[in-house]
Amino acid sequence: MRSVVVSAPGKLMLLGEHAVVYDRPCIVTAIDRRMKVRLSVIKDEVLEVESPKVGIVHYRKLMRDLGMETNGHKVKFVELGVKHFREKFPFGGGVRIETLSEFSCNFGFGSSATITVCVIKALAELFGKKLSNKEIFDLAYKTVLAVQGRGSGFDVASAVFGGTLYFWTGGEVIERLTFGHLPLVIGYTGIKADTVSLIKQVEELRKKDYGKVEGIFDEISVLVKKAKEAIVRSDWKQLGDLMNRDEELLEKLGVGGEKLSLLIKTSLQAGAFGAKLSGAGVGDCMVVLVPEEKKNDVCRAISQAGGEVVEVELGVEGVRIEVQSSERKVQRLYEKIKGDGSGAVKYSIY
Ligand code: PMV
Repeated sequence: MRSVVVSAPGKLMLLGEHAVVYDRPCIVTAIDRRMKVRLSVIKDEVLEVESPKVGIVHYRKLMRDLGMETNGHKVKFVELGVKHFREKFPFGGGVRIETLSEFSCNFGFGSSATITVCVIKALAELFGKKLSNKEIFDLAYKTVLAVQGRGSGFDVASAVFGGTLYFWTGGEVIERLTFGHLPLVIGYTGIKADTVSLIKQVEELRKKDYGKVEGIFDEISVLVKKAKEAIVRSDWKQLGDLMNRDEELLEKLGVGGEKLSLLIKTSLQAGAFGAKLSGAGVGDCMVVLVPEEKKNDVCRAISQAGGEVVEVELGVEGVRIEVQSSERKVQRLYEKIKGDGSGAVKYSIY
């Protein structure tokens, strides 16, 4: 049985959320928490999915029925990913897909986008299709849109390209930013953000008060462009001010949240340059830019306020093949990443 293991990084939105859904830029960075997908070719004309952490166990569907009457949000990303790939590059037989993740899907690190990207990359590898990163992005983005209805594709781009990206809606611009160490602290609220309904909520507000919301988006657009320059110059004071202004604008859009506000306020009081929500809002994570000497104070303040500090490395590599070889080799790697009790590598099964 031919198999491949592919991994892609999770992401954190730095600035520009919501506005990026409406033809504006954002800045996103890839983090060192990866999603891993093992994909194997099987004889039967079926798709099999094993993703027990999100309740997908022994999922089976005939290849010709892919996309029809699919129950379960998460499995749709996998199913439509395979369907879209197969429409473009027809193949016989079926595939078995197993997922492993180094992060819980509650964090808002982009598990849906990363799974989709891994599936497309793995299929391309197994069926000998030399796809460019942009082609992987296009197929994965098409899939995410088909499931979610709306979304800028920033999370898909981050999973594919990695690094820290200046990204424009739908991948019109995907520019990699080069700079030194970004002194960022991540605080997790413990609350799950519902991205799809928050996008809808902003859409409703925009319909009701078009001028105001477009004005906010324009201001976010200007500050994201300034932030891009500040990052490249490593001007953390200016970047912090821009993050604070972005947070004010996001609150005007109605996507702030009590816990987020508390963690942001305490971080600023503890000496941060700037702090803001990251992603759709209400919950998930917040990002804090800190002077190095204040890092411990800020981390302590976040914990005391009931947040969880999440240590991550930023700007990591995008989607990559972990191993493609005989089934035994893949199995060995898979056992290792599931954790063999040695404590050397600890990943939770997704
Ligand atoms: O909730 P997240 O981390 O997937 O971020 C959503 C960001 C939005 O701008 C609100 C949506 C998007 O697709 O860009």
